Amino acid sequence: MGYGDISRKCLEIIVAMPSYSKEELAEKVESQVPIPIERALDRILQGDCVEILNALPEKSVDLIFADPPYNLQLQGELYRPNMTRVDAVVDAWDRFESFKAYDEFSRAWLAACRRVLKDTGTIWVIGSYHNIYRVGAIMQDLGYWILNDVIWIKTNPMPNFRGVRFTNAHETLIWAGKAKGSRYTFNHHAMKEFNGGKQMRSDWVLPICSGSERVKINGKKAHPTQKPEALLYRVILSSSRPGDIVLDPFFGSGTTGAVARKLHRHWIGIEREEKYIQVAWERINKITPARFSAEVFDVSDERRLAPRVSFASLLEAGLISPGQKLYFRKDREQVATIRADGKLVLEDGTVGSIHQTGKHLMNGSPCNGWQHWYFVAADGHLHVIDELRALYRKKCLG
Ligand SMILES: C[S@@+](CC[C@H](N)C(=O)[O-])C[C@H]1O[C@@H](n2cnc3c(N)ncnc32)[C@H](O)[C@@H]1O
Repeated sequence: MGYGDISRKCLEIIVAMPSYSKEELAEKVESQVPIPIERALDRILQGDCVEILNALPEKSVDLIFADPPYNLQLQGELYRPNMTRVDAVVDAWDRFESFKAYDEFSRAWLAACRRVLKDTGTIWVIGSYHNIYRVGAIMQDLGYWILNDVIWIKTNPMPNFRGVRFTNAHETLIWAGKAKGSRYTFNHHAMKEFNGGKQMRSDWVLPICSGSERVKINGKKAHPTQKPEALLYRVILSSSRPGDIVLDPFFGSGTTGAVARKLHRHWIGIEREEKYIQVAWERINKITPARFSAEVFDVSDERRLAPRVSFASLLEAGLISPGQKLYFRKDREQVATIRADGKLVLEDGTVGSIHQTGKHLMNGSPCNGWQHWYFVAADGHLHVIDELRALYRKKCLG
């Protein structure tokens, strides 16, 4: 995929649209007609994740983050030594009759996820000692290829109040490809930046979700297991690119959608409980991501290593022509004419490269001309010239 494609895909991520109604979805699931992927983008689909995943098209998503029920098997209430009640996960959705029932459930959703994952896609599953070993074995049985297990070390874990075991201070994330040897996205260089320039390690030290990030209703946690955005930031940034589709089958309070939106990825959330859908929806709708630019949001290794292209080479390739007009920041009043050597001539007579003329129009501020000059494309609309650079790379550099 070229960068032009990315910017087009990203510009489409403008405002989250309302999800299908529960009834509409049930009808789709029943009729077994696949839901077109475009109708699912940036929406929360309400219902059982296995049924909904099976209604989505095969090989349609780039990345999955799954935070399934952990089957914590908590018996009754838990109290601190001072007799205050611990806010533990005791919800019905986390309860399973037996390990066998939990395994059957895990096998069903993991298989459904694998069907919708593109061959180049990857999946992250988070869990604790209660479930992660079972989940990992099932993943391997289904054909997933484990790339890493990442340990999320909590800087502020909940203590073991009764003092009968070690403090459980971490959770485990399994990161897997669809099959052995499949290609996948890993933004290795971007990850190094998060580790002082050294290769990113598989032990991530991050706090649990608290403070203003924690969504609350009347002072109470809106969701018992809201994950920290920092964790999702690392997951999404490391293993996807702008415009990719990130799916979360256990959406909860919508952490995956919130971070995906900030990073200009499309997202699809699946969640059964109405009350969490409301929480997630409000949370995501409050987010207005910064305007997309590949320079800022595409930190992939592919982009870093992409060959340099001069603007003049677009002339030789016939993608632009001498005398053609360009428009600065989509403003039809700010026009430049392309000279035969690839320089631009502004209406005030200034001559320079796409970057120099852009800088001139921005009163001396640095300007990446590829991102600011627009041409009229065959569809009659203004498109950024970076799309032509992407096309050139694809056509002429392979
Ligand atoms: C561990 S929580 C996910 C929390 C989420 N990562 C967040 O940051 O808020 C699991 C969620 O999955 C939902 N859930 C459980 N079983 C489900 C199923 N079969 N289909 C869809 N959602 C389900 C629960 O309602 C719960 O909100």
